Amino acid sequence: MGRRLTFDIFRYNPSVPGSTPRIQTFQLEETPGMNLFVALTRLREEQDPSLKFDFVCRMALCGSCGMLINGRPRLACKTFTRDLPAQINLFPLPVFKLLGDLSVDTGTWFRNLALKTGAWLHTSRAFEHDAREERMDNETALRIYEAERCIECGCCLAACAKVHLQKEFIGAAGINRLVRFMLDPRDERGVAQYFEVLGSENGIYGCMGLMGCEDNCPKDLPLQLQLAYIRRRLAATGVSRSQTRQGKG
Ligand code: SF4
Ligand code: FES
Repeated sequence: MGRRLTFDIFRYNPSVPGSTPRIQTFQLEETPGMNLFVALTRLREEQDPSLKFDFVCRMALCGSCGMLINGRPRLACKTFTRDLPAQINLFPLPVFKLLGDLSVDTGTWFRNLALKTGAWLHTSRAFEHDAREERMDNETALRIYEAERCIECGCCLAACAKVHLQKEFIGAAGINRLVRFMLDPRDERGVAQYFEVLGSENGIYGCMGLMGCEDNCPKDLPLQLQLAYIRRRLAATGVSRSQTRQGKG
């Protein structure tokens, strides 16, 4: 017989009039190989059909199941109950708009980030649908692939003290996204253009180096290395903070 697990789960649905934030306690018997996707699905099916939480892929690929698990931002589908104590506390990720219970809207945050940072290839070349695929050297392709592994789960942002203090800070996910385009030889933006976005307290100068992002990224992305890459590019090209403020460089 498995352990008797106790779940204290944050409940609040802002779209329901009269709903007030509270903690609801559930009990469940642990089964072999149980992860929090299985546990929450059973709680919803067997005990309370109104419990809200998000899952799509169940394999750490879609980024929709981020939540605070015993105080740490984690992917619920990647978290096994055997790695947790019998008392499990679940809260929604902070920073993002709460949709209800454990469900938050990360999509709007990441869409705004993409618009703010111009997170797409900037090229003057016309699209040719029948052109042959262009080759890229392996090292560059691998570094772009590494940055592309971000699943936009928001765990790094929820773990970042600066994001909590400064709403406009683009955070590790934003810095990682821009590195992806800075590395790409097809992107025609110059360093000065990148630093119009990055060269401020809401960009690379906003990071306090507390490492909450990298410590909590479920995809183990080298987020501090990405920041270091940008800072090196900044130093190498001589674009200074004051220059970027004046739009030069
Ligand atoms: Fe999630 Fe890591 Fe991407 Fe941050 S960098 S959004 S923690 S996958
Ligand atoms: Fe897709 Fe967890 S359900 S990352």
